[in-house]
Amino acid sequence: MAAAAKTTMISLILFVSFYASVLADTPANCTFEDIKGKWVFSVGSGGNSHSVDCNNFTGPFKSQLEVTLQYPDVAVDQYGNIGFWTIIYNQGFEVVVSGRKYFAFSKFEKQGKEVVSYCHELMPGWAHDSLGHDWACYMGKKASARWDSGRKVSYESSHTLSNILKFESDTFYNDMNFIDRINSAQSSWKAAAYPHLEGLRREHLLGMAGGPASRVAARPSPAPVTREVYEAAAKLPDNFDWRNVDGVNYVSPIRNQGACGSCYSFAALAMDEARIRIMTNNTKTPVFSPQDIVDCSEYSQGCAGGFPYLIGGKYAEDFGLALEADNPYKGKDQGTCGTSSSATRHYATKYRYVGGYYGACNEPLMRLRLYEDGPVAIGFEVLTDFMQYKGGIYHHTGLTGGFKPFELTNHAVLVVGYGVDSTTGEKYWITKNSWGEKWGENGFFRIRRGTDECAFESMAVESTPIIPL
Ligand SMILES: *[C@@H]1O[C@H](CO)[C@@H](O)[C@H](O)[C@H]1NC(C)=O
Ligand SMILES: *[C@@H]1O[C@H](CO)[C@@H](O)[C@H](O)[C@H]1NC(C)=O
Ligand SMILES: *[C@@H]1O[C@H](CO)[C@@H](O)[C@H](O)[C@H]1NC(C)=O
Repeated sequence: MAAAAKTTMISLILFVSFYASVLADTPANCTFEDIKGKWVFSVGSGGNSHSVDCNNFTGPFKSQLEVTLQYPDVAVDQYGNIGFWTIIYNQGFEVVVSGRKYFAFSKFEKQGKEVVSYCHELMPGWAHDSLGHDWACYMGKKASARWDSGRKVSYESSHTLSNILKFESDTFYNDMNFIDRINSAQSSWKAAAYPHLEGLRREHLLGMAGGPASRVAARPSPAPVTREVYEAAAKLPDNFDWRNVDGVNYVSPIRNQGACGSCYSFAALAMDEARIRIMTNNTKTPVFSPQDIVDCSEYSQGCAGGFPYLIGGKYAEDFGLALEADNPYKGKDQGTCGTSSSATRHYATKYRYVGGYYGACNEPLMRLRLYEDGPVAIGFEVLTDFMQYKGGIYHHTGLTGGFKPFELTNHAVLVVGYGVDSTTGEKYWITKNSWGEKWGENGFFRIRRGTDECAFESMAVESTPIIPL
């Protein structure tokens, strides 16, 4: 009896926390094909600052923007002005046209235990002039005749309540048989047991790998390589590492995100941190606050996930990054923004997907941007064997172990260099993870390069920090 009551109590608590975290990476799963076409944005009154609350915006409307989103990144407004747009993974899209920026997540709704995404409508979004002086809220709907019969994407299986509850009972263990199988299947990388991860709950592991509800979109293949990019990349050195450029390290220290699905903020902030070090010859070395992102950013979903484009880029431009000291990392959602409003903010601008828009990336281009501008943040698909990585050049082995925490998830990390193995000739990326120094090669890992391993070369993001005073 008492046990049953306790179980009910635990279920209730988990029920509540599930709904708290189902904001997700949002449950929307919208593709380029769903989004492209003509949209009508209904915009509320302007004149607000960036602190305008658009969450529950339903009008009144002051103006309308009609914008046609064309392949691959061309946005044309009703006056014929040409601008830019990109989808952001499968989550929503940003349009920049006639001096204004519009960003909103694609619409989704909870329906009982399921969440349904409506790719032809938007959640209330943020519209502001490109300088960030004049903010308004807006709503968007696709103008095409049949928008209201648009595809509903049912969001079932792994994200129903019963499945989440099942995850709770699993704890991580080092499956030695699995580790042996990885090590005998190939010699490119080594798997090892991680005693410090033993006993962690499945939910924790899912958090480490991208957020409990992060999942993989229909991803773009790397874009074709132009002759210009091919020739420019051919002139780059064979090996390059921002941790050691003529003996100088420009990469900020390894951190540990813990159980919170905040990888996207660690990756995005580490990009801006490294780029400031590069731009200032290591005379400015701020370390930014991922907790500020987790608790204060409307552009991401706290410990449930988010995207580097919206954080190292858009949040950094629109709101600015706080220093770690102004909101030290706690590794969980606090529910309120704990950063003082008087904390100094650090800004970045010119945020972009490598290649200009989501889907335009490829290996030589990524290498060029990395070499010329600094580390780039990327998202990739984490599979079970990756968790056991201890060193070498990772590629997915296709093997799964006794503990199966991962569906495909979308984990964000920072690429800091690249190279070629001198004995095998295998090409690799050098990447900074946020799982502490005990994991991998002192917190870093290398992964096969040139083959879009685990979608590694399909969605790199960069931004240009504004040097702090
Ligand atoms: C938005 O509306 C919901 C329910 O209608 C409410 O719970 C929430 O507090 C509102 N949010 C804001 C920021 O006003
Ligand atoms: C998202 O949509 C794509 C394309 O329709 C599909 O391949 C993919 O499996 C979907 N992902 C999820 C988690 O539903
Ligand atoms: C950058 O810093 C190093 C080490 O302090 C110094 O030797 C070098 O001269 C600096 N470079 C420039 C361009 O100032």
